[in-house]
Amino acid sequence: MKEIFERVSVRNYTDQPVEREKIEDLLRAAMCAPSSGNERPWHFLVLEQKEKFLPITQISPHVEMLREAQCAILVCADTTQKKYRFDFWPQDCSAALENLLIEAKHLGLGAVWCGIYPDEEKIRALRTLYGLPDHVEVLAVVPIGYPAYERQVKDRFHSERVHIGDWQHVLTPGTSYVTPQYEEEC
Ligand SMILES: Cc1cc2nc3c(=O)[nH]c(=O)nc-3n(C[C@H](O)[C@H](O)[C@H](O)COP(=O)(O)O)c2cc1C
Repeated sequence: MKEIFERVSVRNYTDQPVEREKIEDLLRAAMCAPSSGNERPWHFLVLEQKEKFLPITQISPHVEMLREAQCAILVCADTTQKKYRFDFWPQDCSAALENLLIEAKHLGLGAVWCGIYPDEEKIRALRTLYGLPDHVEVLAVVPIGYPAYERQVKDRFHSERVHIGDWQHVLTPGTSYVTPQYEEEC
């Protein structure tokens, strides 16, 4: 699937608005993600007007690209959906967010994952700004728009990160899994 291999963070956008149909596609893709115990704790706050999402630049120093974005989606979790002893909402919502980013690429859109969780201060500020209840967490904000330019994508396969059978058997840098050559590592 070429979109996985070609996805990159996009932080510069044109003035072209993002169609509602495409926003719905993004949300549908996100909600197809796997989740622990099928909890599906995700909620998405869609912000289409600049005056709605620009205040986030006052909360996080890393979201300046919102100034150019055409819309933004806040990826949230309802923690009352918790079924097990552990919190799995960050993993569940991360899977949903990755689906959203890949679908954005597929639709010709550009987007970037801007982390909020686990910064409690930022989460509290977003709760106040958007009226989120206390049991709602915020994983990230995703600025979205049409890319202002295309970024070249590099091959990111690092064979030395692949261990086969046990930790010591590592693929030699620059080789492939198809015909494995090992570099012993301790
Ligand atoms: C948990 C997480 C938090 C991130 N937060 C930000 C952020 O606040 N601002 C930003 O510009 N990019 C953010 N990014 C995007 C990363 O910088 C980006 O994915 C990384 O540099 C790799 O580049 P690529 O997405 O183009 O492959 C975040 C990514 C992740 C997974």
